[in-house]
Amino acid sequence: MTNTAPQSVPFGSILTDVMAIAWFRKGRWEPHALKPVGPIEIHPAAHALHYGSECFEGFKAYKWADGSVHVFRMDRHIERLRRSARALVMPEPDAAQLAQMVVEVIDRCRAAVPDAPAALYLRPLLFGTMPNIGAALAPTDEACLVVLASPVADYFAGASKPLRVYLEEHATRCASRLGVVKTGGNYAAALGPTLAARQHHNVDQVLFCPGGEVQETGAANFLAIRDGHILTRGLDTTFLHGVTRDSLLRMAPDLGFRVEERIFTVAELLAWVKTGEAALSGTAVVLSGVGTLLRGREEFRVGSGTVGPNTQKLRAALVAIQQGTAPDRHGWLTRV
Ligand SMILES: Cc1ncc(COP(=O)(O)O)c(C=O)c1O
Repeated sequence: MTNTAPQSVPFGSILTDVMAIAWFRKGRWEPHALKPVGPIEIHPAAHALHYGSECFEGFKAYKWADGSVHVFRMDRHIERLRRSARALVMPEPDAAQLAQMVVEVIDRCRAAVPDAPAALYLRPLLFGTMPNIGAALAPTDEACLVVLASPVADYFAGASKPLRVYLEEHATRCASRLGVVKTGGNYAAALGPTLAARQHHNVDQVLFCPGGEVQETGAANFLAIRDGHILTRGLDTTFLHGVTRDSLLRMAPDLGFRVEERIFTVAELLAWVKTGEAALSGTAVVLSGVGTLLRGREEFRVGSGTVGPNTQKLRAALVAIQQGTAPDRHGWLTRV
């Protein structure tokens, strides 16, 4: 790895030197190995390349002021990968082996874990390698599991910059049954509408609201926030069940917020933001405030148009746990 500061490069564009890799063959996971990051040889008929048997995860390890390194909610992310694998009828990674792979990568790349607020982003990736182009209706019986690591800064340059978000009421982010699965095809499906909105409306992100119901953006969940109250869509299969969302909702009562999880509409959201706040939540974006919503060509200012005080309060409380300046009362961190 070059000695580039993560702040100076786009999110995820530099990797550490070492990855962990394991293969599923003959009905079982083989022992994993640590290897230099580099190309993997797979057959051009590999199932993932033709029939999309692929899923992944993303989470972070933080360096505390005392130099120790802590992974945030690793178990939960590993469970989500296993759930994605099940949904796509792929070999499920063994939770203990995957945790060990993550720990070994971090341990070998310890010097590359940047100081907070930057972090080491971990990216487990699972893909089907069975070489058979006739297997559209057959699950892959071979797979590869890789763990990559990337030193990252904030996803959006400047955590305090309010985002411009386009309300997409027609296109869906992905097939509705698969919203809950973290698979590459969902991101490919969201790319066209997202790039079009960026080009035509100069926005940072698209909030998918098919049929007028607020869902999520291409890579983050959506929360409407105001004094003492958080509103967000209730868990269903149409969107990814974010670990950051779950963490914020679990912290919310202690911070004086009532949590309401239900379906809500664009009309309701536009009424809410006259005085309330809105934010995107995710591992990469943490909790990023929305300053403007666009519906067609019409612009709606969210609250004062800046990142609101409740958004800042929730973000600060979460970041304090991750960076070890507040106690980890929920047992969310794993020291490596
Ligand atoms: C589509 C989508 N929604 C939501 C999230 C937020 O999930 P998490 O908080 O687990 O990072 C992500 C990021 O992983 C995502 O890609």
